[in-house]
Amino acid sequence: MDASTVFTSPRPALLRAWHGLNGVVILGLLGTVLLRKTVFNYRTNGPLIEAKVAAVGGAVSTDGAVAVAKLLRDQMWEWHLALGVALAVLFVVRVVVAVLDPELVPFRAFARAVSSFRGLPSAARSTALHPMLVKLLHGAFYALLVAMVASGLVLLFKDNLGLAKEAVSPVKEAHELMMWGVAAFVPLHVVGVVVAELRGERGLVSQMIHGRT
Ligand code: HEM
Repeated sequence: MDASTVFTSPRPALLRAWHGLNGVVILGLLGTVLLRKTVFNYRTNGPLIEAKVAAVGGAVSTDGAVAVAKLLRDQMWEWHLALGVALAVLFVVRVVVAVLDPELVPFRAFARAVSSFRGLPSAARSTALHPMLVKLLHGAFYALLVAMVASGLVLLFKDNLGLAKEAVSPVKEAHELMMWGVAAFVPLHVVGVVVAELRGERGLVSQMIHGRT
């Protein structure tokens, strides 16, 4: 696939593939967070392990049971790290998409919407406001993903980077906090697309699947 054949439709194949994979990876990352906070929560699992070992006639200290619970959680968390690296690779792919077709640079659609909004008479502005805000939201989500990937990579390579605990701690807090932004965007995005289709903006889904409406 060379650039001339890939970038001929309104939604190039590479962008559509990126979008699908990005969605799967983000859902996977959110899934690992959900598992960490629920099924693999060491605070719940520690006492469960301790009780079960005692019930079958064995003995394990409270600290030992918690260590086992954390071990199991950490094995599951390897998925977060693998998916995190996949998200970082997808970020590079998205940069390639933007380099091949500068029209697809994130925020460009928003910048275009703002300049056409400015040129509109005030009576027409109310209808143009919503699409402009949608494009702003998309741009903000791109920025959030960049921050998520950057902070995730810092956490992943903190030892290699020789970072002190005090330097890592705010990065981790920011990474955790931004998770809520990602978690909020996913349902908002899906509901937004469904509502737009129902309101007559047909073809958004097919455009993202086979490139044209
Ligand atoms: C949608 C994107 C992401 C979400 C929602 C997300 C969410 C989270 C959350 C909530 C935590 C804190 C878990 C806890 O301590 O309770 C975390 C930690 C972490 N994340 Fe992510 N993350 C994302 C992307 C990434 C990426 C791109 C990477 C790396 C390339 C990454 C690597 C890490 C690492 C290394 C930790 C620290 C684990 C630890 O201290 O044990 N994450 N992430």
